[in-house]
Amino acid sequence: MTSVIDRREDSAVAVPVSWWRDAVIYQIYPRSFADSNGDGMGDLPGIRSRLPYLRDLGVDAVWLSPFYASPQADAGYDVADYRTVDPVFGTLADAQGLITDAHDLGLRVIVDLVPNHSSDRHEWFRRAVAEGPGSPFRDRYHFRPGRGAGGELPPNDWPSIFGGPAWTRTTNPDGTPGEWYLHLFAPEQPDFNWDHPAVADEFRTILRFWLDLGVDGFRIDVAHGLVKAQGLPDLGVETQWHLLDVGVSPCFDRDGVHDIYRSWRRILDEYPGERIAVAEAWAPTLERVAAYVRPDELHQAFNFSYLGTGWNVADQRRMIDASLAAMRAVGAPATWTLSNHDVVRHTNRLLQADDGDVAGRRPTAVDPVAGLRRARAASLLLLALPGSAYLYQGEELGLPEVVDLPPEVRQDPAFHRAAGQDGYRDGCRVPIPWHGDQAPYGFGPDGGPSWLPQPEAWAELSVAAQENVPGSTLSLYRAALAIRRSHPGLGAPDNLRWVDGPAGVLQFDRDGFRCTVNLGAGAVRVDRVGEVLLASGPIDADPDAVTLPADTAVWWSR
Ligand code: GLC
Repeated sequence: MTSVIDRREDSAVAVPVSWWRDAVIYQIYPRSFADSNGDGMGDLPGIRSRLPYLRDLGVDAVWLSPFYASPQADAGYDVADYRTVDPVFGTLADAQGLITDAHDLGLRVIVDLVPNHSSDRHEWFRRAVAEGPGSPFRDRYHFRPGRGAGGELPPNDWPSIFGGPAWTRTTNPDGTPGEWYLHLFAPEQPDFNWDHPAVADEFRTILRFWLDLGVDGFRIDVAHGLVKAQGLPDLGVETQWHLLDVGVSPCFDRDGVHDIYRSWRRILDEYPGERIAVAEAWAPTLERVAAYVRPDELHQAFNFSYLGTGWNVADQRRMIDASLAAMRAVGAPATWTLSNHDVVRHTNRLLQADDGDVAGRRPTAVDPVAGLRRARAASLLLLALPGSAYLYQGEELGLPEVVDLPPEVRQDPAFHRAAGQDGYRDGCRVPIPWHGDQAPYGFGPDGGPSWLPQPEAWAELSVAAQENVPGSTLSLYRAALAIRRSHPGLGAPDNLRWVDGPAGVLQFDRDGFRCTVNLGAGAVRVDRVGEVLLASGPIDADPDAVTLPADTAVWWSR
């Protein structure tokens, strides 16, 4: 692990090698992290003021979800200007200050890049619509005449990920019904046409803009979506649920995306200090995901296959092996994630998996004690695996999914559209509790609003309530991250060796380190193999053996 950043060319300090291969990267969802001005929305000055907390937590880098100028139709994943900070989040000077402060604290900064689509308020799209058919700006998106006698039907059968058709009809400047445009997500998110050279040029410039500002990398939103099949042929399947797994899809994971990432890699490599890119790439197999991280493409890809793995020994072991093998084949590190801003928090999701809902699309209430116990065990397992780990803000506090938000406060665009794939994402986006007995718990000024209401029970989950409290989830994460940094076995790449254990137990060694996890329903006794470094919950230890209750993980030094 590297804790010091000093990668400027004139630096006298040794340049760390490949910091990202085993980095712990903490996702900040800006609107929900810390609100400095009391408008109920988190902002960049709020994040800046909390960076020492992240340094103390022990992460290597932060990834910031979008904070660019945006009408917020999809919480900022609808970008109107890629080089401007939205006033709700602050200014470009705030972004610059945040990057500088983070670097001073030894934290790297990764920003989100949204290249598949813009906002419908982006200047190109506004001109495309305003200028009517024939506008050169229409070629930068996918505009098509409709099907049917009067063009009243969408140009093809593609569904939107958020529900409903992936096409919206425009109105001509003279008021008559016009062409349709493609949006794989909300209508406010028109897809770019990546066959147009101006689109590729623009994004190369945007990359350089943020690299020049000092960012250490990019998280590439919908990295699998940029290139569409020539002619936009019908999908031929009936519902959106198949959109991601139709094998060779006309809209996702097209081979052409890889040329784009090769050109981006050349840009990243021009900059000192190993600037990286991580792909949000949904592809049918791990091998197809691995193609995004070949040596001349991006550096990492999220491992959504692991995120959706059931809580049992056979599935966990199979998926960990498959992930390591797929990434080894291209020389990339594996990555591991349990929670992010699009999925049900793993405090709930891993219990929901028992009922067959591994993806956790519909958050349900779970026993909070059992949910947290399993989540803590899963987090220790995740942090013991070789490669890079992505944490989502609040998981270090053991925050549960908020399952009872009333419909009128929900803002996920898919919630209000027909049964969208991602319609229930607000419950993992509730603002962080920092301190105090009453909402907003230090998220913003006392008595101030928060854009989503926080549950009453969150007083006891706040940072202040957990800080320096032995056994708290925050203390567990801090201890785990400190051990991860210092134990040589955890710093070595790809050194996992499975160790057989009692039924229901997953165990592996990593050069002087062992992780033992009880995924079974009852307590198990395992022989003592060394010093217990950390346990995710209470264990019984005697001189020869240790008893792990269900859903408990132990880290050992051997
Ligand atoms: C990605 C983001 C998600 C967003 C979508 C459209 O999946 O993670 O939050 O809604 O892209 O940009």
